[in-house]
Amino acid sequence: MQVPVITLDGPSGSGKGTISQRLAEQLGWHYLDSGALYRLLACAAARDGIALDDVDGLVALAGRIHGEFGFSAAGEERVLLDGVPVTTELRTEQLGNAASRIAALPAVRAALLAWQRRYRQLPGLVADGRDMGTVVFPDADLKIFLTANPAERAIRRYNQLKNIGKEVTLESVVGEVKARDERDRSRAASPLVPAVDAHLLDNSSLDVEETVALVLAHASSIF
Ligand code: DC
Repeated sequence: MQVPVITLDGPSGSGKGTISQRLAEQLGWHYLDSGALYRLLACAAARDGIALDDVDGLVALAGRIHGEFGFSAAGEERVLLDGVPVTTELRTEQLGNAASRIAALPAVRAALLAWQRRYRQLPGLVADGRDMGTVVFPDADLKIFLTANPAERAIRRYNQLKNIGKEVTLESVVGEVKARDERDRSRAASPLVPAVDAHLLDNSSLDVEETVALVLAHASSIF
């Protein structure tokens, strides 16, 4: 039996992480935050002194690191890299940018493919990222391309960073989000584009509950 998958792709600050987690919770399905795998690899590269353009070094590193992703009883994210907590570090814009740089390398993307596909387990998977519907799960049952206007996305990202205690200015976040999105959209390997069969959903003026309800409405006509 083919395990059902819902993919949510979109740029940073589109809310896909929060929406995907809620969907997975409500459906009782597994959740893949694919961006966290790119971030974890970038984090391990910094730890081991591997340059962000050292393709062979990064591919070998992807094969030997061990990541654990979960949530505390209070619902706070907890990520371990080879047994060491890296949660706060992982969410910085610095690591977001490093992740975006290594994500432009086709060999690195290929090295992370099998790891991502292993998350496809019963009763189902909600996967969020940039190429979930185009490359990683092209046969997904439901594909959503989530976006919001750039100003709204920058404010959401700014609030996320403030919430985890990062000292940032809105101005710097606007610049970083813009640069990262441009790189993710313009790269040759698996660029950030909607799958041809994706539903486009602009949630600039919707809150989390409203967005989740819209995705669930699509889901209820399929599952
Ligand atoms: O979703 P995020 O912001 O945590 O992702 C960090 C970077 O990783 C993002 O800027 C691009 C890259 N990424 C990717 O190329 N493909 C994915 N499926 C997920 C993330």
